This record gives sequence, structure tokens and C-alpha cells, in this order.
Amino acid sequence: MSKLFTINAFKNIKQTGSLFRSSKFLAEKLTDSLSPKENMVIVELGAGDGVITKQILAKMGADSKLYSYEINPIFVPRLNAIGDERLTVLNSSVAEITSDFKENEVDMVISSLPLTNFDHAFKKQLMKDVKVLLKSEGQFIQYQYSKNDKKLLKNSFTGFTTNFCLLNFPPAFVYTCIN
Ligand SMILES: C[S@@+](CC[C@H](N)C(=O)[O-])C[C@H]1O[C@@H](n2cnc3c(N)ncnc32)[C@H](O)[C@@H]1O
Repeated sequence: MSKLFTINAFKNIKQTGSLFRSSKFLAEKLTDSLSPKENMVIVELGAGDGVITKQILAKMGADSKLYSYEINPIFVPRLNAIGDERLTVLNSSVAEITSDFKENEVDMVISSLPLTNFDHAFKKQLMKDVKVLLKSEGQFIQYQYSKNDKKLLKNSFTGFTTNFCLLNFPPAFVYTCIN
């Protein structure tokens, strides 16, 4: 358990979305399709204190790049302390994403955003933005504790699969969407 994460979740549960950070089992499932052999541009949405960030870095290639968005400045020193030159920490909202990347530039987006707490228009726009930035066959991977946004994700992308991670608190659905 991360004290920093839980204290900040209590302060702003709507933004943080969970009282506990993701388990290593969930981090493993979210990064299943990463390969060290590939040279990729990866974008992480909602990095928190970096539990998934570290797993992405451990699995991605030496020449790949990871850009991690985190809106809460409290988590930013933790993320910067990871100290990996392949990582760029962006202390801004994912609403800015289209100003940071070009069309068809991104291979994979891995999201921990608490979509359930966002309004529908924001989520729809975010899906549109992600699709524009993703390369053809690029992947958008999102976990959720409920099936709340399954339909929205499924309808926004061409390919869609669901996985489940029991060893997380709470257990989570892992959605993989293909552009
Ligand atoms: C459920 S936590 C996930 C943290 C970590 N990735 C994990 O899995 O344990 C969601 C994170 O998304 C961040 N977040 C919420 N809204 C955001 C936004 N609009 N832009 C960027 N980050 C956001 C929160 O501050 C929080 O750290």
C-alpha cells in the first residue's frame, strides 16, 4: 500500500478514483502486450504514484518513449524520482493530449483514469482524441472496477477484448481496444 496515494485519495476521491493504488498483478495485466523488442511511443493517463509507470518502463524497449500524464502535482516528484530517461512526466490534464502529440504518432495508450467519475461529454471527447493520436492497430488499454464504460469503449474502437484481474482491490476489468 502507498500512504501518499491513499492520503490523497481521501482528499479527492472523485479525481483519484480509488483508495488504493493498483496491484502488481493489475500492472502486469495492463502491460501484457508490451515487448522490449519494439520501439514504441507509449502514453500513460493518470499515473498516480507510478506503480504502472514502473511496470511499463520495465517491459518496454530501450528506445521506446513513455509520456505519463498526472493532474495531481503531489504525485509528480514521485514520478520524476523514477529517474528513467525514457520517461517524460506531464503534470497536466489529459484534456491537453491533442496539443502534445501529432496524429498517428502513438502506439499505445494505457489508462488508469477514473472514467466513472467523468462526465459523458469529457469521456467521448477523450476517446475521439485518443483515436486521432493512435496509429492504425494502436491499442488503448483501460481498467475499470465496473462495466460502466464498456459500451462507450467498445463502440469507440474497431477491436475490443475484456480481461479480468481478481488480484486487485477492488478486482478490475481490463479493456483492450484496437484502433
Ligand atoms: C485510479 S488512480 C490510478 C493511479 C495509478 N496509475 C494506479 O493504477 O494505481 C487515477 C489517477 O488519475 C489521475 N487523474 C484524474 N483525472 C485526470 C486528468 N484529467 N488528467 C490527468 N490525470 C488525471 C488522478 O490524479 C489519479 O492519480
